[in-house]
Amino acid sequence: MALWGGRFSKETDRRVAEYTASVDYDQRLYRHDIEGSLAHVRMLAASGIVPAADAEKISLGLIAIRDRIEAGEFVFDPALEDVHMNIEKALIDEVGEVGARLHSGRSRNDQVATDERLYLRQRCGELSHGLRDMQRALVDCADRHRELIMPGLTHLQHAQPVPVAHHLLAYVEMFERDRGRLADAVDRFNVLPLGAGALAGSTLPLNREMVARELGFPKIARNSMDAVADRDYVVEVLAALALIAMHCSRLAEDVILWASQEFGFVELDDGFCTGSSLMPQKKNPDIAELARGKTGRVYGALVAVLTTMKGLPLTYNRDMQEDKEGLFDALDTVAATLGVMAPMMASAEFDGEAMARAAADPALMATDLAEWLVGRGVPFREAHRQVGELVALSRKLGLPLNRLDLNQMRQAIPLAEQECLTLFDARRSVEARNLPGGAAFGQVHGQLADWRQALAAADGGDLPE
Ligand code: ARG
Repeated sequence: MALWGGRFSKETDRRVAEYTASVDYDQRLYRHDIEGSLAHVRMLAASGIVPAADAEKISLGLIAIRDRIEAGEFVFDPALEDVHMNIEKALIDEVGEVGARLHSGRSRNDQVATDERLYLRQRCGELSHGLRDMQRALVDCADRHRELIMPGLTHLQHAQPVPVAHHLLAYVEMFERDRGRLADAVDRFNVLPLGAGALAGSTLPLNREMVARELGFPKIARNSMDAVADRDYVVEVLAALALIAMHCSRLAEDVILWASQEFGFVELDDGFCTGSSLMPQKKNPDIAELARGKTGRVYGALVAVLTTMKGLPLTYNRDMQEDKEGLFDALDTVAATLGVMAPMMASAEFDGEAMARAAADPALMATDLAEWLVGRGVPFREAHRQVGELVALSRKLGLPLNRLDLNQMRQAIPLAEQECLTLFDARRSVEARNLPGGAAFGQVHGQLADWRQALAAADGGDLPE
């Protein structure tokens, strides 16, 4: 019999079968496909569509197939196109003609949308744990270096001194929003498509609520055409992944700079670096470079699915099969990146002296002086101008700001007093930024304590499993 049944008088051309097959990659949906089928067949029996004894045989057959796949004893056949057809065919081989009752009231269109949502629900939950681990690593690293100061940068230029912990906790915030985006995506796609059939529902008395309950979907799709036609959930997950990759890439770039000879701020653990096949002295931050580099393929997957989906008429089109490879690759890539960057950060050693030297440049405290003048009633723009003149004078004299005497200071800043000279201290400067969200140690240590508590309480499992 041809794969497509009575309508066809010929076998599918070999080249067509090869071109259209997706089983090489969609086989990773097998567990969720079988989970969906088990719920479907129980409902078929409960609704009187399939005799209970047949449903029982089908269930046992599906479980046997799952066991065979998990034991590595199942051979997926590309001639059967996809994971759904492979499992259905195996079922019929396993339990005989009763297996042919499973697909009642169902289409691969609502089946694949169900499988993907079940699969993504699990992967998003795992990723949320991965983000938690990353946050824990950053908090640990921040905590170990809680007293250290580094120059904070804008435009990659020295700007103002900050605690290293403040810099690291900035990423903890970003990864927290990433977790929120995953949770939001799950919340929206956690809706049962099954029952939508090919596009218009079914003439059979399916009990969709029962299937939804069994599969842990809080809702059923309200519109059967929407249920099979959209892949916005794939786009949303990929967008969340793209942002995680972006955050990892920026952290990676910071680490690469810090580990360079020019900065010399951080020493990465030998176990998380690689050497050069030629230059014996090299110790390279390859993990961070790859994390930065792999961001490209994650963005690529997002753009690919957006492009595939644009312009598709409702409802299902075979184009949509193209949603999977990039999605799987992006999920694997981001999970792997988090999995290796977290221990890299947990084991990183910051060099307090090198950072303190860099942060000691009195020019980093120029803003403090301008704000000191604001405190004396000088309008900020005027204070900014005067301190700018002082900086120009110090450059002209070839003296750092803190080496100018009071008379020299007064050439630029008429209100200058001896106290101004005490402002050129990085630690004092940090401590002076003592408002919520600011760089003062009290603020940062408070944030650290809050994160410690939040991360200890949470196992990351606040997404539906
Ligand atoms: N492998 C297909 C996909 O991923 C399953 C749905 C196929 N449906 C169809 N009518 N050809 O999209």
